[in-house]
Amino acid sequence: MTASDSEFQQPVFEAQADLSKQMRVFMLGATGTIGRATLQTLIDHGHNVTCFLRRKTEATSNSDLIFEHPLVTLRYGDVTDAKSLSDDGFGHENFDIIISCLASRTGVPRDAWAIDYQAHCNILQAANNSGVKQFILLSALCVQKPRLEFQHAKLKFEQELIASGLIYSIIRPTAFFKSLSGQVERVKTGKSFLIFNGGRLTACKPISDRDLAAFIVKCLSDRNHWNKILPIGGPGPAIAPLDQGNYLFLNLQQKLKFKSVPLWFFKAIIAILAFGGRFHSRLADQAELARIGYYYATESMLVLNPETGRYDETLTPSTGQDTLFGHYDQLIRGEIHHERGEHSVF
Ligand SMILES: NC(=O)c1ccc[n+]([C@@H]2O[C@H](COP(=O)([O-])OP(=O)(O)OC[C@H]3O[C@@H](n4cnc5c(N)ncnc54)[C@H](OP(=O)(O)O)[C@@H]3O)[C@@H](O)[C@H]2O)c1
Repeated sequence: MTASDSEFQQPVFEAQADLSKQMRVFMLGATGTIGRATLQTLIDHGHNVTCFLRRKTEATSNSDLIFEHPLVTLRYGDVTDAKSLSDDGFGHENFDIIISCLASRTGVPRDAWAIDYQAHCNILQAANNSGVKQFILLSALCVQKPRLEFQHAKLKFEQELIASGLIYSIIRPTAFFKSLSGQVERVKTGKSFLIFNGGRLTACKPISDRDLAAFIVKCLSDRNHWNKILPIGGPGPAIAPLDQGNYLFLNLQQKLKFKSVPLWFFKAIIAILAFGGRFHSRLADQAELARIGYYYATESMLVLNPETGRYDETLTPSTGQDTLFGHYDQLIRGEIHHERGEHSVF
């Protein structure tokens, strides 16, 4: 599916949404970055949320305060097992809506097809069996130009959801703050800011976790967000990597120090890993991770204009109030920290 498809429409933000109606929500991916923010917003609006989680070891258990709220019910099982989903998850109860912020943690092909596609098919099947009428899916804007396995997996499920007959809202956000903050610590410690081909090759309209969560929760009741694919970015103009670096150096009162990495270097690494991947599956996975890195270094997270075939800032809708540079200020002051899982690539 591409940006030229008919479902691909700009959301109308002025529409009135009845956010006061309490709903029974079945939620997947509640322990992830956007899942947590969405769960918090659902609680703030008084919805009852059943979170279906995988069990974790003691050291990384799901026992934090958000999950102890009286409106939240925790159920444990395996999203890759259809029976576990319906027995341990849905438990033959009725829910008004499914919200999925579930996503492969690694992005490697096996995991992407198992989670971004097959697990979601299981969820859709269980939803149909238990009479759920509505499904909100967190997807990604990059699927508009699919080159990577995880994008094909997401896109394939998007198509299944559209064909399912349920009311759907497929949300395709641009870049998250966490994905654009990896170099703050580098720069703080006096290192250079890495860019590709001069730092103006790509741009995005970064969106904060809570602004995206508010947008997701609005889809519960705002009919203008139903049966649509919704690309969405944060407030303000599009930002290129060079702008991010400039802002950091200015605010840390440091001299500009960029290191421009040539794209051929990236391509060479991919070629070497891909060759090794013919013999070792670990190297094949690393080649895919390098391809993911190359994709984000060369493709903008903005809506593709179907007429020009170019990324277009003006076609990329905005929502919310939080800015990436405000987020950088907080990171610089040490008011917040990023918790990037070891195995988290997105
Ligand atoms: N990063 C970006 O800039 C960006 C931009 C646009 C769109 N997106 C998309 O946004 C989506 C969500 O991103 P995120 O950063 O919130 O994801 P995340 O933090 O990696 O969270 C992933 C969620 O999925 C769950 N999950 C993964 N594998 C599972 C499995 N085998 N069984 C059960 N649960 C599993 C995780 O549970 P555990 O806690 O148990 O692992 C977690 O709750 C992704 O589809 C991503 O492609 C990202």
